[in-house]
Amino acid sequence: MDSHAMDAFDVGRLVPGFRPPQADVDADAACRDAAALAAADTAMRRWRSPLDGPLRPGSERHRSETCRMFEQTFNPYRPAVLDWPVLAPATRARIVALPIWDIAVQTEGKARLRMAAYAATLGEADMRNALALNAWEEHRHKEVLSRMVAAYGIELAPEPPQPLPQDPEWAYLVTGYSECIDSFFAFGLFELARRSGLFPPALVDTFEPVMQEECRHILLFANWAGWHRARLSPWRRLRFELKVVRVWAFLAWERIGLARAVDGAGAAGGGAGQDNNFTLNGAQAMADDGVRLPTLLALCLAENERRFAGYDERLLRPATVPRLVRMALRLMRPFARRD
Ligand SMILES: [Fe+2]
Ligand SMILES: [Fe+2]
Repeated sequence: MDSHAMDAFDVGRLVPGFRPPQADVDADAACRDAAALAAADTAMRRWRSPLDGPLRPGSERHRSETCRMFEQTFNPYRPAVLDWPVLAPATRARIVALPIWDIAVQTEGKARLRMAAYAATLGEADMRNALALNAWEEHRHKEVLSRMVAAYGIELAPEPPQPLPQDPEWAYLVTGYSECIDSFFAFGLFELARRSGLFPPALVDTFEPVMQEECRHILLFANWAGWHRARLSPWRRLRFELKVVRVWAFLAWERIGLARAVDGAGAAGGGAGQDNNFTLNGAQAMADDGVRLPTLLALCLAENERRFAGYDERLLRPATVPRLVRMALRLMRPFARRD
């Protein structure tokens, strides 16, 4: 029986015309079928447009193929049938004690609302539906998390109500770039967790499709941004770029604040305003603490490339964080091997 019913968030109510993926008995059965699961897992990681020729950002082809990618790589996994492995007492205690779960649940709630609110403003039906599906998947992340929290007996603080954003584009940019930052580091931390064996492989397996789903999300975001940018007049483009700069400044400030909150003794309350996503929080929970920074950054880069490698190379990729990290690694090189 489902004792952890989700809240009544409904993407379709915010985004006219959006039809959520069907949740029926057949889908549940399919999600218990190993062959169907494996096929869905493969389909979510590899995609190529059937069209020949370039996908020029801003063009209709670029938009339609971006949306087609997102729809065709959808993974129908169902949180209700995910396995939460029984953990050794020490492992379970380590997870429960992490001061991140309130932030993680609230961030998913914020992300679904912001994505749906922005999707509703779009005139192009395919892009509107793609962003609405992304919002629906964030809602599903929230469900995965609430089931995990329930399975391991983690206590959550009551969630504050989330108002609809006043500037949906700003809110979508904050969520999108936030996912680009967090997912990049989550990919590396997650691989570190897998290699170290610190957490049971079954738990790593449960998180794996969610991790790849974030890769799809930031792939969609990068292509939405490229499409959106290319269609703006020079004046509106300038305004948009200034907004993007403000978003990055806001996210940098927010992350510094978050690091301080998590370091401090009173972090359990979660603090205010964070946008860190659940994959980063989850991966942090699983990673080995003893790794050196350059090693971790190099692993993040490699994992980022591996996760994107299966998608059509004509689609845009998130570029800023990998570029900054490559630069940081170059700057660190002279200081390497001193310890
Ligand atoms: Fe998410
Ligand atoms: Fe996401």
